[in-house]
Amino acid sequence: MSNNRTVTLDEFIIRRQKDFSFASGELTGLLRDIGVAAKIVNREVNKAGLLNILGVADKSNATGDEVQKLDLYANQKLIDCLKNSGECCGIASEENEDFIPINSVADKSSKYVVVFDPLDGSSNIDVNVSVGTIFGIYRRVSDANSPCNLDDFLQKGTKLVAAGYVLYGTSTLLVYTTGRGVNGFTLDPTIGEFCLSHQDIQIPERGNYYSVNQGYYLKFDVEMRRYIDYCSDMNYRLRYIGSMVSDIHRILFQGGIFLYPNTRKYPQGKLRLVYECNPLSFIVEQAGGRSISSQLERIMDLDVKHLHQRATIAIGSPAMVDEMKAFVERYSALPTFGK
Ligand code: AHG
Ligand code: MN
Ligand code: MN
Repeated sequence: MSNNRTVTLDEFIIRRQKDFSFASGELTGLLRDIGVAAKIVNREVNKAGLLNILGVADKSNATGDEVQKLDLYANQKLIDCLKNSGECCGIASEENEDFIPINSVADKSSKYVVVFDPLDGSSNIDVNVSVGTIFGIYRRVSDANSPCNLDDFLQKGTKLVAAGYVLYGTSTLLVYTTGRGVNGFTLDPTIGEFCLSHQDIQIPERGNYYSVNQGYYLKFDVEMRRYIDYCSDMNYRLRYIGSMVSDIHRILFQGGIFLYPNTRKYPQGKLRLVYECNPLSFIVEQAGGRSISSQLERIMDLDVKHLHQRATIAIGSPAMVDEMKAFVERYSALPTFGK
């Protein structure tokens, strides 16, 4: 592929179609639908800052309400885009209690289901800080001639056929993988297209950043506290945006580790396995990184029992995740006395 000219997301997806194990236009179409939804959400996210400025003057338009509306707006846009084309047979979203089966369009029965977090880090919107969208695509396991069912969504991360995120940051970027490396596309607002900007992304072996809500330090297990002390002793820089897409995006490019361990408030962790942890783990692993739980299991190997299941996570540069693992193993082997 030539580096000298612009390659759009659509063009790239079509060229890569032959790489898929079950080559069909369906997955290609799905990724394109998500790209279209991302552009629509991007337009609204960009306007939200303006709406919030106006909202401060008019107390009846509460900022919190706008943020909530944008969560739902993003959710609805993704659902609409995916429903219209009929390229998938079902959707599960962080914003919906249950999955949504999709009727076939023009007698076309689809083999895929899509899971997503429509707006990640949405508490950042009213202060004009980056947010994201996270998605994952599975091949259905249910009978192709019947509506999709829960089993289609409760698949391990290792069964993902594609995953990606959109970062609505200083520029808007779409990063995705179909299991053959990771590529990133920057939205060129002048032509309204995502253009290939980051080819074959590789996460650095290690880096200088750690990302964790250190405000919860006293609520973490002792092993995790010792590891965080170590990061601080090593003068790693602490960066925590409160939108895991943004935090993991930094780590993907500059190296580091992102942690959301169990706390007293969230004994199983806070982040959602289906909508957040698995898709981002697939991307990070494809870029050469690692992703494990606080119990040191590989995230993508975890059993998925509920749509909204939570998980703990340590994700990022391979050498740093391994180091964290060694810390936890060493400190949890010590006698409990004095912990
Ligand atoms: P969402 O906005 O989709 O609910 O996700 C927010 C998540 C994640 O993106 C972020 O890293 C984390 O929640 C922040 O949680 P804390 O405020 O507890 O640190
Ligand atoms: Mn989220
Ligand atoms: Mn969300």
